[in-house]
Amino acid sequence: MKKLVQLAEPGSADESLARKLDSEVLPRHVAVIMDGNGRWAQERGRPRVEGHRAGVAAVRDTIEGAAELGLEVLTLYAFSVENWKRPRYEVWTLMNLLKEYLLKELSNLVENDIRLTVLGRWRELDPSVVSLIERAEQATRDCRGLRLNIALNYSGRMEIVDACRQIVADWAQGKGTDIDEETLGRYLYTSGLPDPDLLIRTSGEMRISNFLLWQISYSEICVIDTLWPDFRRGHLIQAILDFQTRNRRFGGLQSDSEDDVCDTRSV
Ligand code: FPP
Repeated sequence: MKKLVQLAEPGSADESLARKLDSEVLPRHVAVIMDGNGRWAQERGRPRVEGHRAGVAAVRDTIEGAAELGLEVLTLYAFSVENWKRPRYEVWTLMNLLKEYLLKELSNLVENDIRLTVLGRWRELDPSVVSLIERAEQATRDCRGLRLNIALNYSGRMEIVDACRQIVADWAQGKGTDIDEETLGRYLYTSGLPDPDLLIRTSGEMRISNFLLWQISYSEICVIDTLWPDFRRGHLIQAILDFQTRNRRFGGLQSDSEDDVCDTRSV
């Protein structure tokens, strides 16, 4: 967080927003449903793909902001399994933007100590995408700063199905363990990472859209009206400030409640 305050232009809106943050209550993991690219383009009388192109600048700024804030994990929803239902040209453009991003930004990621991992059935994508992902994952493997997850060809339900299939496969090899929440979590694409504390969705839509279904059980949700291409680190800070006003109870009562806790299964 200090870094963001130092790097922001003195007297800028970002600097004064960042100064309001409580560094003790930063979310460890922020997940983002980047929505509204199509509407952004439509509002300007331009083809939908222009919205996706403009969305890449928002991706860059958000990643930079998250790294400067010192967040541990940022997960961006870039392409869902359901997105294959879109017109061929739109899908092609999205895949190309991704390839371009991986080509152009890899050195920046390494320089900024950002480790990139891709969540989803990305190995089923075109070999040109797969090889760029493999290269980026490999090149950033030892980075210890921000962990950047890009969800690609991703579905939350499919992630749980994939985890179950892998558990069954391990059983067949005699590596079976009891299934509990902790075990299942270890088989998810996000294995080893904390669950998102904060889920942000842009463009005002109140939907989860099959994103991180298991992991967001207790995430705080922040829906903002801004369309994704207009999103910048200032919006990220605003969302975190909102998060810092929430009273997270995880199904219990306020942490300062003086009542006895009922920790048995009968009363
Ligand atoms: C949703 O907007 C956005 C997407 C399906 C794609 C998000 C992709 C990018 C921001 C660019 C590439 C990403 C990376 C990581 C380089 P929408 O098209 O559903 O918008 P609408 O609801 O207004 O139609």
